[in-house]
Amino acid sequence: MDVEQSQQAKWDNRYRGQTPGAPLSLLSDMAYLLPTTGHALDLACGTGANALLLAGRGLQTQAWDISAVAVETLTGHAGDLPLVAQRRDVVAEPPLPATFDVICVAHFLDRELCPAIAAALRPGGLLFYQTFTRDRVDDTGPSSSRYRLESNELLRLFAGLTVRYFREDGVVGDTTLGLRNVACLIAQRSVGTAP
Ligand SMILES: C[S@@+](CC[C@H](N)C(=O)[O-])C[C@H]1O[C@@H](n2cnc3c(N)ncnc32)[C@H](O)[C@@H]1O
Repeated sequence: MDVEQSQQAKWDNRYRGQTPGAPLSLLSDMAYLLPTTGHALDLACGTGANALLLAGRGLQTQAWDISAVAVETLTGHAGDLPLVAQRRDVVAEPPLPATFDVICVAHFLDRELCPAIAAALRPGGLLFYQTFTRDRVDDTGPSSSRYRLESNELLRLFAGLTVRYFREDGVVGDTTLGLRNVACLIAQRSVGTAP
């Protein structure tokens, strides 16, 4: 079994019997920023709650994940929505430059992919990104620091984009409150410039 097959098997096992949960609050709370038309991508979508939100807003939505089980589950929930879910290794096959008006990445981190994600935005396109941080208040998320962001790292990874929203509560103050263990970014590719 090669690396891709073992990754797929790991995630397929995790997704068996699961249904799409709730979309990111980053996306649902800030959905007013979304364009009313265009193409969206949920990258490493899992069972695709964020893809379902994007497609529900009328965006032509692609959802990619290495897990065939997750993709099949999402396809089963898509109904008549403008949503195509596809099994795709996003590291081997990243999105092409200037192809999406909205890209959502939730709880997935491959630092080497970040330049391709930024470049895949069309001019004016929006990136919604939320994933785990090394600063954390409990065991939520991956144990390996390789898959967790350093402080403010999301800002550095997408330094070529214009920040519209950023949140990283870290471990400051009353840690029983707030949005902990994650960093959230909404950033925009400038109109008419490369990222
Ligand atoms: C923690 S889950 C997050 C899923 C979803 N975005 C969410 O927030 O619920 C990470 C996802 O990344 C997917 N994944 C891991 N490596 C991948 C790759 N190389 N290409 C595509 N998807 C990948 C897994 O199958 C899994 O669905």
